[in-house]
Amino acid sequence: MNMKKVWLLFLSIVFSASMIAGDKTPKNLKVLDFTSSKEVKKYMKMISKDLGVKCKYCHDMNDKSLDTEHKEITRLMMQMIQTQNDSVFNYEGASQVSCWICHRGSSEPELVRPK
Ligand code: HEC
Ligand code: HEC
Repeated sequence: MNMKKVWLLFLSIVFSASMIAGDKTPKNLKVLDFTSSKEVKKYMKMISKDLGVKCKYCHDMNDKSLDTEHKEITRLMMQMIQTQNDSVFNYEGASQVSCWICHRGSSEPELVRPK
């Protein structure tokens, strides 16, 4: 084989390998600073449980990178939590704020104090 053929073979192997692995690197993260799809998935499972919803509550299941109304609201919620954790719950031994603290398994937190 000449060098050109070896090079082409090499390229085609790299290309097929990346097709099989599936390039799922998150491409539309504006708040979270995860780089792997594994971290994203773990976090997404957690917030779904905190709100008692399925992925499709926030996502277009054909393409999760597309923005939806619930994704936009959720981004604000994520920022709120980050701010609270950074500015208030930053002392030694502090607990961390999560969606659960307010939502407790519901997409709509109770806004009215029970009588
Ligand atoms: C309560 C809303 C909500 C639920 C429920 C939710 N997600 Fe998300 N998801 C988001 C938001 C918001 C982002 C974007 C975060 C950002 O901008 O940093 C996102 C981003 C993602 C991404 C990255 C997409 C890309 O390429 O940018 C994946 C993958 C994803 N979610 C998977 C899931 C899966 C799987 C589930 C169910 C287990 C799920 N999500 C449930 C709100 C949600
Ligand atoms: C400090 C309390 C608090 C925390 C923490 C919190 N939320 Fe919320 N969330 C609320 C309140 C209150 C509402 C209702 C707002 C309204 O009625 O306008 C709400 C509404 C929402 C909604 C819109 C529901 C609807 O009916 O349209 C989504 C989606 C949501 N939150 C997602 C999240 C996610 C995901 C997290 C964690 C990343 C989170 N929230 C953390 C208080 C909180």
